[in-house]
Amino acid sequence: MITNTELQYKGNLFPGKVSAVQKEGDTHSFKAENGTILRIQVVRDSMIRFRYAVDGNFEEDFSYAISENYTKGYNALVLTEEKDHYCLTTSKLHVHVSKADLRVGIYDLDGKTLLEDELGFHWEENHEYGGEYVKMSKFSPEGENFYGLGDKPMHSNLKGKRVENWNTDEYAFGKDRDPIYKAVPFYIGLQDGMSYGVFFDNTFKTHFDFAAERRNVCSFWADGGEMNYYFIYGPTMMEVVETYTNLTGVPELPPLWALGYHQCKWSYYPEDKFVAIAKKFRDLKIPCDAMYLDIDYMEGFRCFTWNETYFPDAKRMVADLEKDGFKTVVIIDPGIKIDPDYSVYQEALENNYFCKRSDGPLMKGKVWPGECNFPDFTNPKVRAWWRDLYKELIEDIGVSGVWNDMNEPAVMEIPGKTFPLDVRHKYDGHPCSHRKAHNVYGMQMARASYEGVKKYAYPKRPFLITRAAYSGTQRYTSSWTGDNVASWEHLWLANIQVQRLNLSGMGFTGTDIGGFAEQPTGELYARWIQLGVFHPFCRTHSSGHHGEQEPWSFGDEVLAIAKSYIELRYTLLPYLYTMFWEYVKYGKPMIKPLYYVDQEDAQTHYRTDEFLFGNDILVCPVLEPNASGRRMYIPRGKWVNFWTGEEVTGGKELWVDAGMDTIPVFVRAGAAIPRYPVQQFVGEKQIDELGLDVYFTEGSKRSRIYADSGDGYDYAKGRYSLRTIQITGRSKDLVISQHKDGEYDASYQSFKVTLHNVPFDVKSVYIDNVRTEIPALKKAQQTVLFVDKNFDEIHITGK
Ligand code: GLC
Repeated sequence: MITNTELQYKGNLFPGKVSAVQKEGDTHSFKAENGTILRIQVVRDSMIRFRYAVDGNFEEDFSYAISENYTKGYNALVLTEEKDHYCLTTSKLHVHVSKADLRVGIYDLDGKTLLEDELGFHWEENHEYGGEYVKMSKFSPEGENFYGLGDKPMHSNLKGKRVENWNTDEYAFGKDRDPIYKAVPFYIGLQDGMSYGVFFDNTFKTHFDFAAERRNVCSFWADGGEMNYYFIYGPTMMEVVETYTNLTGVPELPPLWALGYHQCKWSYYPEDKFVAIAKKFRDLKIPCDAMYLDIDYMEGFRCFTWNETYFPDAKRMVADLEKDGFKTVVIIDPGIKIDPDYSVYQEALENNYFCKRSDGPLMKGKVWPGECNFPDFTNPKVRAWWRDLYKELIEDIGVSGVWNDMNEPAVMEIPGKTFPLDVRHKYDGHPCSHRKAHNVYGMQMARASYEGVKKYAYPKRPFLITRAAYSGTQRYTSSWTGDNVASWEHLWLANIQVQRLNLSGMGFTGTDIGGFAEQPTGELYARWIQLGVFHPFCRTHSSGHHGEQEPWSFGDEVLAIAKSYIELRYTLLPYLYTMFWEYVKYGKPMIKPLYYVDQEDAQTHYRTDEFLFGNDILVCPVLEPNASGRRMYIPRGKWVNFWTGEEVTGGKELWVDAGMDTIPVFVRAGAAIPRYPVQQFVGEKQIDELGLDVYFTEGSKRSRIYADSGDGYDYAKGRYSLRTIQITGRSKDLVISQHKDGEYDASYQSFKVTLHNVPFDVKSVYIDNVRTEIPALKKAQQTVLFVDKNFDEIHITGK
């Protein structure tokens, strides 16, 4: 086993004494006597990149993770020389480099230690493959906690754990199973009320030890490639996550329908069955926007074909569904069936698009279609070809979205369940083996698919979903957490995984509601959908052969619960769309764990269950059978129980009643939550009136409402509307003011303002300085006002 923390291990090699320092623009190079070079690039005052070359030669600088649009630039950069170290100073940080051995220490401007090397950079030669195992170890002070790392199905706080990143098809993974589908080598350290992030941008198998092997050491290492990491300073977790997300990128706004409810199963076929499921949603008046076709829609699992016995006229079927408000999403896997009569296979073969083994034969492996070859998506020519394969599906047939699966890549009947390590990849002009390309294979597939759907759906917006991912995949696609299980433990995991992915830049994520493997009880399904409607991506999916998993499959009580929660999601669409816009615009995670919300409150550091949906809605799922409620932690501040209107003051744990039809939900005092009427699908109704739920607060708080046409790209030309609503409350006074920006004119003309928890009897209401007569309003009653959407100020005074 490789471990980087055993001092005695004779294979470890270390940098020598610094012999030269060179500056080039934003980068300083520290050269050691034995040839090791440390390059420190100041990307921002608060983000520093560290790269090491063991023998003086850096690799060409290339990364799939980093966004083209990330923000660069610093206010200050000064190098000074001290007796035993060099010091780089920005407007936020000091970085010390030890003259003796290149060890690094990072401090804030007051000299407080943020992160210090323990052994620092060291390496071990890899005699089998060449190159090195590159390793880094840092001191971890007592009380430090760790978060992040993508989809790890384990406790939110990673302290005491050792994990690795190697995309793996892990059917029915259990708690603590590692690794699973995604590789996001980014973690957040939190100590003493201060957060920082480390993004280790290395696509080889990477390993992280969070004080597991030694209680005061945190280390990370990779099986090859460069020690290349970014240190991101907070001090708030919000700043760390926003900076990481800015660095690795955000998606474009999705079509609004993609935020609706989706229904999936392995598999709905033939056509009449598929269509009957859709029709049942309409008959029962359960909102739904998307229906999925899993692998059986294809002819013998050949990608880009249709089984014409099951789906004789796909174009007509898709168009009929569309008329009824359903979008069709289809699955596409990477394995291409070896079949000389299959055009996709022929084209790839003729053009040399398939991955090859190191000695020349094609990479061959079994997936659903039987023996397959696999396109090398790290070749830009292959991506362009793959992109254009979508013409028929998207442009001609009218499919709206694409689901990329098995792209870890998953291969059956091969040890390791993936490509052997010798498989060769183009890696965009940096040819390499699968050791380096494995973790980005799925990402590059999703990227090519995204380019295809985007091209042929234009001027509509593309929708994609992927299972495998590497950092940055969020630029192209949404994702789900893979083949989970219908168990209470998995409901707990679903909650944690979606929170974790949100802090890992990958916000547009959900889980298979109800569980993919095995059959949920009605109660479990009800509890899962109550949580799932508060996830950015909301889809029921199941492996099918064990039973039905539609909202009506569990009897009337569960049906009523599922329907009411899906309806609740549809009423919250303008709020959800706004939080998506904040994610795209600022890199803000849509789902916010409590340790993110209030890192200074140590009570939050080991919390797993409670989270914020957007900025103002606190949710805590019920994760046990037969519960009539649960204990939960309310973060500091004032909150209102969404169901009962009861006000609570946070900073403590509470029992909250939550029978089978209730999930604990609280709204932050001072919030203004926009609401739509229930629709059966996005765009079903013209919205004539926007609901606005205003929750009184003492003091002042702002909320935003973003809107645009919900599809297409007009918003990029200024056709969006951004309303900032400010609530200012005093003991006998409430002012609601609005600031408007952007050129989009939504269809609704007025707001239906519902006032919650106003602490006084109302004497008068002025709307834009005009006194408005409304029926006598009593303290703490819910009160409704109808107001023109362009109002500037509503002023309510108390008796
Ligand atoms: C994989 C996917 C699952 C899908 C199945 C068949 O197991 O994770 O979602 O239904 O393959 O395509």
